[in-house]
Amino acid sequence: MNSKQQRDVIVAADTAALAEAAAQRLINRIARDGRSAVCLTGGSSPEGLYRLLGEAPWRGKVPWDRVHWFMGDDRFVPESDPLSNMGMARRVFLAAAGAPRGNIHPIPTDANYPEGAANIYEDELKIFYGAERLDPARPLFDLVLMGLGPDGHTASLFPGARALDEKSRWVLAVTKAGMEPFVPRVTLTFPALASTREMLFLVDGSGKRDILQRVFTGEDLPGSRAYSEGELVWLLDRAAAPETVS
Ligand code: 6PG
Repeated sequence: MNSKQQRDVIVAADTAALAEAAAQRLINRIARDGRSAVCLTGGSSPEGLYRLLGEAPWRGKVPWDRVHWFMGDDRFVPESDPLSNMGMARRVFLAAAGAPRGNIHPIPTDANYPEGAANIYEDELKIFYGAERLDPARPLFDLVLMGLGPDGHTASLFPGARALDEKSRWVLAVTKAGMEPFVPRVTLTFPALASTREMLFLVDGSGKRDILQRVFTGEDLPGSRAYSEGELVWLLDRAAAPETVS
């Protein structure tokens, strides 16, 4: 798979409809028997979805005991810091829903250095997966959520960064963020994020329309490079949708 992969674009009427559509897709992906794995994203775009998952009726639809929650990237700050992506996910839904602690897999931002955190998280993912190499026929995740920054970054993969070309590592330290907040990050790489049955981008607001247009016309941006071994779905609200797709 590569950036020329077929993408499905779905336009929801507004942010509330976007959150509902995302919740339904998540439930569908974790419906099969056995253990499921969801890779979450930071930023503001998934907050509506997270809020829904923490309250009725959606909360009752999630088989909490068998779903594992990972994070696609995080800022190298303690979880108590408002900048922490996993801190936000815990506050908004994981704690409220009573997700088992053992099913929550934060990037260990209490490690000494971002590089150390990246190594530890890569090992954790490999242990969870049960192999050192990703097999396209057996994805690591059932669902990977992604966002798109105004500069075209996704996860903590910023335009022009060497990390964009990483082929073997699953997780990398990003010592210099490409945009605010300018704190070091730890990010999954494209091959690790791609190891999923579905990659679901959530993008809302008119401020994203221009960058979406650039991604959809094939400009070389991190958001355009993202691919999935399974489905690749872009879920937008109407305000974000470029004219060509609305
Ligand atoms: C992060 C995110 C990042 C985010 C985009 C979009 O840690 O900053 O994971 O990749 O998804 O910046 O963010 P918004 O949804 O806030 O626009």
